[in-house]
Amino acid sequence: MAAALVLVWTYLLIGLLSEFGGIGAQQMLHPLIGRVFIHTLEPSSFLDLPDTDPRPNTLVTFHAHLLGHPDLPRWLRYTQRSPSHPGFLYGTPTLEDRGQQIIEVIAYNRESFETTRQRLVLLIGEPEGPSLPYEAEFLVQSHDVEEVLPSPIGQRFLTALGGLWVPGELQLLNITSALDRGGRVPLPIEGRKEGVYIQVGSSRPFSTCLKVVGSPASHDRCTQGQPPLLSCYDSFVPHFRVDWCNVSLVDKSVPVLPGPVPTWGDGILEHDPYFCPPTEAPDRYFLTDALITLLVPLLVALLLTLILAYIMCCRREGVLKRNLATSDIQMVHHSTIHGNTEELRQMAANRSVPRPLSTLPMFNVRTGERLPPCADIAQVPLILDQH
Ligand SMILES: *[C@@H]1O[C@H](CO)[C@@H](O)[C@H](O)[C@H]1NC(C)=O
Ligand SMILES: *[C@@H]1O[C@H](CO)[C@@H](O)[C@H](O)[C@H]1NC(C)=O
Repeated sequence: MAAALVLVWTYLLIGLLSEFGGIGAQQMLHPLIGRVFIHTLEPSSFLDLPDTDPRPNTLVTFHAHLLGHPDLPRWLRYTQRSPSHPGFLYGTPTLEDRGQQIIEVIAYNRESFETTRQRLVLLIGEPEGPSLPYEAEFLVQSHDVEEVLPSPIGQRFLTALGGLWVPGELQLLNITSALDRGGRVPLPIEGRKEGVYIQVGSSRPFSTCLKVVGSPASHDRCTQGQPPLLSCYDSFVPHFRVDWCNVSLVDKSVPVLPGPVPTWGDGILEHDPYFCPPTEAPDRYFLTDALITLLVPLLVALLLTLILAYIMCCRREGVLKRNLATSDIQMVHHSTIHGNTEELRQMAANRSVPRPLSTLPMFNVRTGERLPPCADIAQVPLILDQH
């Protein structure tokens, strides 16, 4: 009782605060655990759109997030085809989401740049009524996810499915866009849709027709490219095109018995008569092995070095042999070049050296004969007057 009072007061307070804080309207919703929850974000409920709006659609986009967090809770998804369409919040809460979640929705008017906030208080609770242990999932290829979210379409799907199933309580459990399950964006060709997975639960067992369609034999036929085993009239035609190869059935009516609980021991092996520990290993010395491994290559290397050194230093054939083996002309040529180089070097070192012999007129180039210069013409000034 006291808790209920506190709750009422909290809501009153939040309501008052939102009135003064410009938070905007607040709406209370009751999603059920394990059942699909769909909330339509209508632009008109956010923005004061004039009723006599000449344009039929005002462009509005939405941003929804869990209060105090940047994004939506894991179970809830948001979708809007375009700013001229309404937005949808949809998803199936799980047992962990039980309790209260506050979603803040901000609507942006794309024409006036006006924004409005609204808070959705989600009180997530257990569903009432019979449990729905028989679950079937269908891939509807003829629709995008937003096209099945409006409730008349969902009801039409359930009615169509009722023609295949034993009559009983049928409810939508989960709706997912095929794009969120690895599907591809279709080519922009008329009539191509993204596809949507619709999960339905019932309290009544599957019909034989559904069982045959969902059987492994039917799936095998599909993988081989043959049509599935559909033994009954497809009551979805013409409103929905269901991929009968992608029907999956889950029967939760038989509770899965938990397997035997493993018992934990104390971590110490019991005495085992067959366990024979390895005998103690004798000591081993690896010194000789190590020495052999190191010394033998070292000795070989040393030997090779000595042989090489002997060949290089003591068995050198020397300059004499080279000179004998070289032809005289080559030797003269070589020594001439050598001599000239030497001379040039000296000239470079000391500019006042006497003129090179080869430039003297009395130098016989052919014989190499040198005559003592009678007079060094180079020393005689060209214009005698200047001297
Ligand atoms: C609903 O479907 C989505 C996508 O397959 C999955 O991630 C999610 O767990 C489902 N929700 C429940 C409650 O089974
Ligand atoms: C539909 O089922 C077929 C065969 O079971 C499988 O190969 C294919 O990937 C499924 N398609 C989708 C979109 O899940």
